[in-house]
Amino acid sequence: MFQTLTPQGLSTGHAPFVEEARSRGDLYISQPYDLYSEENHEVWRALYQRIRPRWERYANPSFLRGIEVLELPSDRIPRLSEINQRLQPLTGFQAKPVSGYVPGFLFFDCLRRREFPTTITIRPPDRMDYLPEPDIFHDIAGHVPMHTQKAFADTLVRFGDCAHTAVELTAGVRDRQERARRLTNIVKAMSRFFWFTVEFGLMRGPRGACAYGSGLLSSCSELAHAIDSPEVQRYPLQMEWVVNQVAEIDRYQPLLFIVDSFDHLFGLVDRLERWMREGKLDNVAPGLPDIQESDLRSFMDAA
Ligand SMILES: [Fe+2]
Repeated sequence: MFQTLTPQGLSTGHAPFVEEARSRGDLYISQPYDLYSEENHEVWRALYQRIRPRWERYANPSFLRGIEVLELPSDRIPRLSEINQRLQPLTGFQAKPVSGYVPGFLFFDCLRRREFPTTITIRPPDRMDYLPEPDIFHDIAGHVPMHTQKAFADTLVRFGDCAHTAVELTAGVRDRQERARRLTNIVKAMSRFFWFTVEFGLMRGPRGACAYGSGLLSSCSELAHAIDSPEVQRYPLQMEWVVNQVAEIDRYQPLLFIVDSFDHLFGLVDRLERWMREGKLDNVAPGLPDIQESDLRSFMDAA
């Protein structure tokens, strides 16, 4: 297993096709399926085989249904075109291949158009357990099955609306520094909310909490830890806590928030937007995540 290293391939950190697209400034790309090496497919197979029993045990039922209706392949990397053929009639969502990091506003705006920016590279075999950046396993096996659920898909669209609201609310602020400060706070609050729901959210279920967050659903080891470990604090989601809570990416999450249902989650994004309009997100607690210059600029430029 994992013996052959091919010069081709679409491995995270070594994918000439993606690197060239990035150097040309092309954010939206295609999925050149024939470039995947046998090693790339083998990584998918190994990740899928390892995590499948954990999905059965810890994932929410909508995710499991999503895996089935998308006919997510277990033995090879999926073609995005095949996934989209099955996904689009259900909720209108599509996986859209990208060459790398999508700055904040553009990311949320894609969600508003029901397009999910999707990484096409896959982690190398020596980094099976942890990769700080997304790969196709995280995006397609972790996120996309959730996009078959209508209320969840609508929730993502509402995030896109919130990004537009943030632009609209700050566009009239004359002082550029003050505008940047307010946007930084609002984007930090939105990112934290996204982190503790879409990426690491838990939901109340008939047999206790189950996972709907994609960071959990694409990590074999953290998925079990998130639900079973006594080291994890799990609390009903409180907006005032979430938007002020530091989010660290490079460790198992010590604190997770539980929502009641997808309708509950949808309502929470409404509340997030209301708070934004009331100015309650203009001064959130400092700390992670850092809002990158490119994220801020994407919001400033959208005005
Ligand atoms: Fe993600």
